[in-house]
Amino acid sequence: MAPQPTRDDKFTFGLWTVGWQARDPFGDATRPPLDPVETVHRLAELGAYGVTFHDDDLIPFGTDAPERDRLIARFRAALDETGLVVPMATTNLFTHPVFKDGGFTSNDRSVRRFALRKIIRNLDLAAELGASTYVFWGGREGAEVDQAKDIRAALDRYREGIDLLAGYVKEQGYGIRFAIEPKPNEPRGDILLPTVGHALAFIAELEHGDMVGLNPEVGHEQMAGLNFTAGIAQALWAGKLFHIDLNGQRGIKYDQDLVFGHGDLLNAFSLVDLLENGSNGSGAYEGPRHFDYKPLRTEDIDGVWASAAANMRTYLLLKERAAAFRADPEVAEALAASGVADLSTPTIKPGETIADLVADRSAFEDFDADKTAERGYGFVRLGQLALEHVMGAR
Ligand code: GCO
Ligand code: MN
Ligand code: MN
Repeated sequence: MAPQPTRDDKFTFGLWTVGWQARDPFGDATRPPLDPVETVHRLAELGAYGVTFHDDDLIPFGTDAPERDRLIARFRAALDETGLVVPMATTNLFTHPVFKDGGFTSNDRSVRRFALRKIIRNLDLAAELGASTYVFWGGREGAEVDQAKDIRAALDRYREGIDLLAGYVKEQGYGIRFAIEPKPNEPRGDILLPTVGHALAFIAELEHGDMVGLNPEVGHEQMAGLNFTAGIAQALWAGKLFHIDLNGQRGIKYDQDLVFGHGDLLNAFSLVDLLENGSNGSGAYEGPRHFDYKPLRTEDIDGVWASAAANMRTYLLLKERAAAFRADPEVAEALAASGVADLSTPTIKPGETIADLVADRSAFEDFDADKTAERGYGFVRLGQLALEHVMGAR
């Protein structure tokens, strides 16, 4: 019996995910537009907890004020009817041609000022709708030509913008934190803040870095050939995992935005295990499990809803498998044999000084490196146990 998603699972979807009409660089849309109100109802029926949006997903670019109010009112009514929440919102700074050289970091100052105004307007709406996270994905913040962008100036402008907006959120008393979403490329040839590591380093340079964290996406780190679970672990270690975009990706190629688990399944397993069983049996991450995927271009509208359900089902199945993995005595034994928990012991004893370490002959003079090197760590056994649990073979 497959697990059924409930609100407690905190599954959320962007309006732009199921609503993607499947236009790609080579072909036209294969599906009609989806009314956000219908999306809210369908997601609620499927057991989702919330919905997220870019300003333009809900209110098409250029909409006048009365029509904007009407669109917001009917969206709100759908939320009230279904109980769905809006935990996150974000800004579209990539579709309109005005943003072809970026928003925060366009070489054109008037575009940068327009981008800030567009964000401020949607931040106000996000706060009104109760969002606690505001995402910044800078898909157009980048370049194709090395000579075209002064990267240090671009980072100055990025920092200026984020700090200005963070200051605004604090002033207004909005209960919102910012989450930067890294991506190495696409649509720009090279995007600023391409990986979790780059974004963490950027956040450390901010005046308001305390309220700025990350929204890493599975496929984006994998597009750079990186291990997503390891990146998430570092984000957690830094206290910066504010939000997460779950999906699937098969290797280093264009951004596939596949259904969660439809890419590197073993990495998806270790990710769910980390999020759910993080440390000593308690979860490492309490926020929404946000799916940022695209239903394949080949799907009709029934396929869209089936793919939405597939994301949640895969997550819950992996959560079950991760629980079984953690409960397996053979796994416990293999983990112990591999010394995994031993890494939590500080290398220096409490109160020990560097002089004590230098005086400790057993650490160096009498240390038998060759003998110690004979130890096998048994990591393959651990990997095979994980794989067998994923396969349901144990
Ligand atoms: C991508 C990105 C986008 C952003 C979203 C939020 O797939 O390149 O994930 O989908 O997450 O647009 O701004
Ligand atoms: Mn993506
Ligand atoms: Mn994303």
